[in-house]
Amino acid sequence: MSEKEKTDQELEVVDLEAEEETEEKAAEEKNVLIEFKKVCKKYSQGEHEFYALKDASLTISEGEMVVILGPSGAGKSTLLNLLGGMDSATSGEIWFDGNDLTTYSDNQLTQYRAQNVGVVFQFYNLIPTLTAYENVALMKDIKNDTMDPKEALSAVGLADHMHQFPSQMSGGEQQRTSIARAIAKNPKLLLCDEPTGALDTGTGKEVLKLLQEMSRSKGRTVVMVTHNSFFADVADTVIRVKNGGIQSVVHNDKPKDAEEINW
Ligand SMILES: Nc1ncnc2c1ncn2[C@@H]1O[C@H](COP(=O)(O)OP(=O)(O)O)[C@@H](O)[C@H]1O
Ligand SMILES: [Mg+2]
Repeated sequence: MSEKEKTDQELEVVDLEAEEETEEKAAEEKNVLIEFKKVCKKYSQGEHEFYALKDASLTISEGEMVVILGPSGAGKSTLLNLLGGMDSATSGEIWFDGNDLTTYSDNQLTQYRAQNVGVVFQFYNLIPTLTAYENVALMKDIKNDTMDPKEALSAVGLADHMHQFPSQMSGGEQQRTSIARAIAKNPKLLLCDEPTGALDTGTGKEVLKLLQEMSRSKGRTVVMVTHNSFFADVADTVIRVKNGGIQSVVHNDKPKDAEEINW
């Protein structure tokens, strides 16, 4: 080997090492929290097989605000429920914080949900015979280090409504109570399925602002399902789902503030 060839080879080795370092740094900065690898959810109806989700692959970084968009029946809720350990995949891998959820036992999944996942649904799912305070306080039975219910309700602007029952609150107040309940667990992951679906635009915007704040100032990872395409503008990452498949994953360099969008 000539001297020149040798030097070239050495340079290449150095270059590769530099590349590896850059990739490591990028990974460190982003800190991947979730990774789906070819995830499928199949239902069998007699002889007929139907994929609610097919070969879905995606990554979500810690602290991101992710919006999952798609028409009704596209597989959005299926994706969210798999991520929240509320459903199990037919095949593929679902990594969360370095562990593959698809290898978990029922017990481990229960622990995963209790420790890491807060959920917000379209119709709030509050217990009607309990006050806002009591609904949030329920989380104490699920996890040890929960927030004080008062603190969680204050964080969503409901300090003055703590002792009201769901029937005595507006839709927006009920949804804020359900967000307080979700964040009281101090979960790494906040999953929201059509959280503004039952609210008027003004109230919906308040809820959206609150969820954006959770990601921006509290560093929580927020994954929100919606069919409202205007929400794409406020997300760090937009995942479009169609016919059970991931159509596109787009990153927003400058997401808008929730206040800035209209629908
Ligand atoms: N338990 C189930 N059994 C059979 N089909 C289901 C079940 N859950 C969901 N599906 C079907 O999977 C598809 C995706 O559902 P879903 O994820 O709820 O859609 P989206 O939330 O986007 O409206 C739909 O066609 C739905 O009917
Ligand atoms: Mg749905």
